[in-house]
Amino acid sequence: MLDIFSLIKNKTEITSSDYSIEDIDLSSVPNHIAIIMDGNGRWAKKRGLPRIAGHYEGMKVVRKIVKSANEIGVKVLTLYAFSTENWKRPKEEVDYLMRLPEEFLGTFLPELVTENVQVRVMGNQEQLPSHTLKALNKAIYDTQYNDGLILNFALNYGSRYEMIEAIKQIVKDSKNGNLEVEDINEELFSSYLMTSDIGEPDLLIRTSGEIRLSNFMLWQLAYAEFWFTDVYWPDFNKNEFLKSIVEYQCRTRRFGGV
Ligand code: FPP
Repeated sequence: MLDIFSLIKNKTEITSSDYSIEDIDLSSVPNHIAIIMDGNGRWAKKRGLPRIAGHYEGMKVVRKIVKSANEIGVKVLTLYAFSTENWKRPKEEVDYLMRLPEEFLGTFLPELVTENVQVRVMGNQEQLPSHTLKALNKAIYDTQYNDGLILNFALNYGSRYEMIEAIKQIVKDSKNGNLEVEDINEELFSSYLMTSDIGEPDLLIRTSGEIRLSNFMLWQLAYAEFWFTDVYWPDFNKNEFLKSIVEYQCRTRRFGGV
């Protein structure tokens, strides 16, 4: 791991905190929050740092947001850490991103165990380097009996890939006689997705000012509330997170009704 900490030192902006846990209605916290952690590269560029410095700083923010989500009683936190399209990035950056789970879990796994967090991964694991898988599998194993917050990393995840895989499996099950075509409905399709036992996000957060889904949970986000902020992910903090929850709680969710 490169020692970029020294590069970053003194370059992180300190932001004031306007929101506190008292601003949240703890009886209607979103069960499942999904986050597109965007803006690491631009955060670094703005400071004259290499892009990977942004990813490193972003990793530390993950720890803080996991803590905050756990504190307010969120059940599932799904984080988009690497998409099926991210392989197109320069090799040095991809290699670094594939080291981050080890770096993160190497440092924080004992705390996650203590805090009753259950680690999970969704995505195409076949293409992941063995060192990345090893770190993730250890975390999954060590936290398997925890029943607090589910920390779900979307790693080498793409929603279109996920849906194509689901369709392939449905066709196979149909050919094997395990499924009738008439049985296919929304509920059944959902049960073939990687989120089958964690349900759909109630709230989607995307940082960095981009307003798109980038192949993230296209099926599962059908009725989620979307919340966008211009803040780059490395500058995202508890204050911004609580702000997103407060604004979520001001929305009226109608799920197509009136
Ligand atoms: C998008 O920003 C961010 C990523 C592709 C990687 C996100 C990963 C982390 C925040 C760290 C993950 C931590 C763990 C523990 C796995 P970008 O690089 O596209 O930013 P840009 O749009 O400004 O270039």
